[in-house]
Amino acid sequence: MKKILVTGGLGFIGSHTVVELQNAGFEVVIIDNLSNSKIEVLNQITSITGIQPDFYQLDLRIKNDVKNFFNNNTVDGIIHFAASKAVGESVEKPLLYYENNITTLVYLLQEMKERKLDNFIFSSSCTVYGQADELPITENAPTKPAESPYGNTKQIGEEIIKDSCNAYELNAIALRYFNPIGAHDSVKIGELPIGVPQNLIPFVTQTAAGIREQLSVFGDDYPTPDGTAVRDYIHVVDLAKAHIAALQRLINKNNKQHFEFFNVGTGKGSSVLEVIKAFETVTGKKLNYKIVDRRAGDITAAYADTTLANKELHWKTEKTLEEALLSAWKWQEKQ
Ligand code: WQD
Repeated sequence: MKKILVTGGLGFIGSHTVVELQNAGFEVVIIDNLSNSKIEVLNQITSITGIQPDFYQLDLRIKNDVKNFFNNNTVDGIIHFAASKAVGESVEKPLLYYENNITTLVYLLQEMKERKLDNFIFSSSCTVYGQADELPITENAPTKPAESPYGNTKQIGEEIIKDSCNAYELNAIALRYFNPIGAHDSVKIGELPIGVPQNLIPFVTQTAAGIREQLSVFGDDYPTPDGTAVRDYIHVVDLAKAHIAALQRLINKNNKQHFEFFNVGTGKGSSVLEVIKAFETVTGKKLNYKIVDRRAGDITAAYADTTLANKELHWKTEKTLEEALLSAWKWQEKQ
């Protein structure tokens, strides 16, 4: 049985990926420092799959702890989620973001090189494309200067991995996520935003639940069919499965280059108003919202061309926007 290290394995995307790894027959060991996750998630994962993953509460910024971990664990692959991800916070605290997202990555790659470990999957982001000139966005689209320190850590992270792969013959895949939403069908794991949600879907579900009074729709004067911004919302379980596909590609040595990257989205763009309408339809709840000014730093539209991931990873999304929104709502109701 192959053993996979999942850093940040108790977080939103990490926990869903751990479940899919276990479902696919992998043994999982999780590292998480619980900075933005809860230990209860470990039990929830166990109750979904019937298998308790190994768990180490440790901080990847502490090099000695990372070394000790690898002294005691040999792994066949690493899926690296552990990172800070709030765009606004990254502008206020850039050094925290560079330490959390870059230092930890370097430490992990150093251990891989020294111990001759291989098969690394990196959480990247469609933010590397900025506002792309052509839609849908293919992997050939040029990366644009990052809008935030957070986005910069994803660009720099990819470059660090690419250079390391070339120099040390490591094999890695970066997955460039579009907008992950939703929750597991079991309603046992989902997104747990701390404080006021910055992302659209948790704000929508909290507004429907009465926790927030009103949803602000940031701008209706974008050059899109209804004037609101367009994104590619992907069900987190579909996204989790892309990690298994990428890992299997590396383990089976089907990769064509030491470092590869793939878009992970649905290929379909939805506007903010379309999301609101779909949410109201599937839940039967009326959303209190108003149009306000654009949010600084937002782009007009981003959705993925998924041809490469479909072909090379033998992966495609299975769930609809409606299913994702309904699962997000069920999760919210349970909180
Ligand atoms: C979606 C749309 C908002 C909140 C996120 C991450 C980013 C990257 C990509 C990971 C936008 C609008 C939002 C609200 C609104 N992911 N909106 N009212 O901006 O695409 O970015 O995904 O790397 O880092 O942050 O996602 O969910 O914040 O916004 O109208 O209260 O919803 O303007 O058009 P975004 P989002």
